Amino acid sequence: MKIAVLKERAAGETRVAATPETVKKFSALGAEMAIETGAGAGASIPDDQFDAAGATLGDAAATVKGADIVLGVQGPDPALLAGARPGAWIVAGLDPFAQRARIDAYAGAGLEALAMEFMPRITRAQSMDILSSQSNLAGYKAVLEAANAYGRAFPMMMTAAGTISAAKVFVMGVGVAGLQAIATARRLGGQVSATDVRSATREQIQSLGAKPVFVENVAGIEGEGAGGYATEMSEEYQKAQAELVSSHIAKQDIVITTALIPGRAAPRLVTDDQIATMKPGSVIYDLAVAQGGNVEGSVADQTVERHGVKLIGYANTPTHLAADASALFARNLYNFLSAFWDKEAGRPVLDEEIGDAVRLTKGGKVVHERLLG
Ligand code: NAI
Repeated sequence: MKIAVLKERAAGETRVAATPETVKKFSALGAEMAIETGAGAGASIPDDQFDAAGATLGDAAATVKGADIVLGVQGPDPALLAGARPGAWIVAGLDPFAQRARIDAYAGAGLEALAMEFMPRITRAQSMDILSSQSNLAGYKAVLEAANAYGRAFPMMMTAAGTISAAKVFVMGVGVAGLQAIATARRLGGQVSATDVRSATREQIQSLGAKPVFVENVAGIEGEGAGGYATEMSEEYQKAQAELVSSHIAKQDIVITTALIPGRAAPRLVTDDQIATMKPGSVIYDLAVAQGGNVEGSVADQTVERHGVKLIGYANTPTHLAADASALFARNLYNFLSAFWDKEAGRPVLDEEIGDAVRLTKGGKVVHERLLG
């Protein structure tokens, strides 16, 4: 059983899908680990650390040659996979809707592509969930970047020269990223409020010492919603939410938006008119910028100034914390494959619930229901 890890080639991607820790753990299961030279450089993991952990280093072709499993942060270029075993698994964040041509190429090459972002939100899969591990870091980094772009301090400070008031921070979307954004903004001394469409988040917001701001007159999503995710809201809800946001946002210094709906464009939560009501010098970090953006006018990897307000947001926020993001991502992949490791077969054998949820291609075809029809 050979597991290969290539250097990530997507622009701006600094993470790596294995670390010396996971190399050792996979080796202990009996796998032979091959890592492309320089694969860990962006995440501050020199080749010699992979070597010391027991991996074989080489160029891309040597790394992939005879591989049974290829691990990636993002989906590897199909052209690099020619030497892999027939039916080899590609285990990565495959971005299936945006990268459909690539998924078709994996199918055409007879590879079995497993999309880690389709991991079901069930208790036993929590440790395998790349969306959670990466969103958590993204929520943290969003607040730091916003704080950095803000020309004032976060905490209230009483000094001999006078008092500085605390920054008012509003977090929109309280999933994994939003919860970490609230916690981080609180740690920095901000005065934090937050909103979501899922009523279950109200208590979570309060438990972190922040103030919930919710649409009261129109039903949102009771409980956790399907599989924990949000869906698109009714027009009536969207209107009520826009009114609520308009009255609240004008008083905020920092807004962090994190709202996503799986498989769809991110919902628009902040309009240009609403930005115009904010104080000059305020900062909005749009964590959904790569999925179409929650904020009108935000542009990935750029600072856009609208009405004196800075709109910022990286296309790929976790890549700016590459060492920790890689460590968690690599553990997610190890937790996934090791949970299904069949000692006799010497390889992982997936069960139906998780296998069917993540498997995009098999036997030369695209097989995932969300990609068919
Ligand atoms: P996400 O990244 O898909 O969305 C972020 C947040 O935006 C969500 O809380 C969503 O409700 C909110 N949102 C969507 N549309 C909105 C709108 N129009 N206005 C305001 N907010 C809006 O969500 P994430 O972080 O992936 O988490 C979703 C849920 O899944 C959470 O309940 C989380 O606890 C649960 N979860 C469960 C796991 C497990 O059991 N294995 C693992 C990770 C998360």
